[in-house]
Amino acid sequence: MTILVTGGAGYIGSHTVLSLLELNKDVVVLDNLSNSSEESLRRVKQLTGKEVIFYEGDIQDDTCLKHIFDCHKISSVIHFAGLKAVGESTHNPLEYYKNNVSGTLTLLDEMRRANVHQLIFSSSATVYGANSPVPYVETTPIGSTTSPYGTSKMFIEHILQDFAKAEPQFSTIALRYFNPVGAHESGLIGEDPNGIPNNLLPYIAQVAIGKLEKLGVFGGDYPTRDGTGVRDYIHVMDLAEGHCIAMDKLRILRGFRAYNLGSGVGYSVLEMIQAFEKASGVTIPYQILPRRDGDLPAFWADAGLAKMELGWEVSRGINTMMRDTWNWQNKNPKGYHHHHDR
Ligand code: NAD
Ligand code: UD1
Repeated sequence: MTILVTGGAGYIGSHTVLSLLELNKDVVVLDNLSNSSEESLRRVKQLTGKEVIFYEGDIQDDTCLKHIFDCHKISSVIHFAGLKAVGESTHNPLEYYKNNVSGTLTLLDEMRRANVHQLIFSSSATVYGANSPVPYVETTPIGSTTSPYGTSKMFIEHILQDFAKAEPQFSTIALRYFNPVGAHESGLIGEDPNGIPNNLLPYIAQVAIGKLEKLGVFGGDYPTRDGTGVRDYIHVMDLAEGHCIAMDKLRILRGFRAYNLGSGVGYSVLEMIQAFEKASGVTIPYQILPRRDGDLPAFWADAGLAKMELGWEVSRGINTMMRDTWNWQNKNPKGYHHHHDR
């Protein structure tokens, strides 16, 4: 039986495909390469010695999905495909609702037609919104999202819940990622942002190799231990392994379930800078700037449910995250060296 991975050429997708292949699973990837390149999958092949069947196509294209479900014995789907730039989503909300929400609807419709009943969905800690107490726990209702991106993830979770209620054979897990960072320890695959990075770690790494001059720290006056924002960072390989473990749970689950995938520990921006400097030996010049619109002061996961029900917890700490980020950036100063314009 084969697993369909949408968005499998992307950052988290490629690391998860690698983990699945290492477990001897058969994998088909569907990706429109709007934010990735096939080079990531070539490198996954190089690392594992195993083949991935790749379709360049869009999850909004029902004909393409039909073709894949006709040609392969798909038992389950891991659904990463979607747009993820928070700032961009406020300027172009329709693209976000089309790709993320409408794309997911098309995928679900074709899964139903093809009698495929198992789905893992990439959700985000952002669904907890602005008013949830920290640490975030799955029993807190989702809502009060702060961007169209976040709202698209919240809508999809509601759709999955309703769909699972209506289709008793269907089982679906929404994994709410906290802040994914790092790269595979080989340094062959990693995060390759288009243009100037929005996220903290890719920005720090590009300052370290001299591509960017200095880091702007967004806000030094938050009510946190050093005034800078606090987040729960999770190594992308821990995240990838979380998907493999959730696949086992899908087989015995009925209905909808959401799990936080985080470490349960928060680090401030200044602590992240220090940890990177220690791992790399490079000093990161920075400047405190005003707060970034839409940012929350501090949040991290209650990681208890995933541990209890999935038997999953993180095994890689902050030093490993920094080491692997630096290794990837050093070995690939230009990323995968590609990029379509969107
Ligand atoms: P990514 O951009 O690297 O991967 C997404 C992949 O989906 C890309 O390869 C892109 O080309 C593809 N894609 C986008 N729209 C598509 C479409 N309509 N049809 C087919 N393919 C399409 O991002 P990522 O960091 O690997 O994130 C994967 C998923 O996890 C996304 O759904 C994202 O919203 C979610 N997520 C990411 C983070 C994070 O910080 N990276 C945090 C929480 C949730
Ligand atoms: C962002 C998204 C969130 C998404 C998450 C995971 C926003 C508002 N939220 O979260 O929806 O799920 O990515 O990738 O964009 N920082 C700096 N300087 C920088 C970049 C970041 O100081 O150049 C700070 C931020 O203010 C924050 C922390 O670093 O305190 C982490 O930022 P980032 O990596 O962008 O992730 P989030 O904002 O947590």
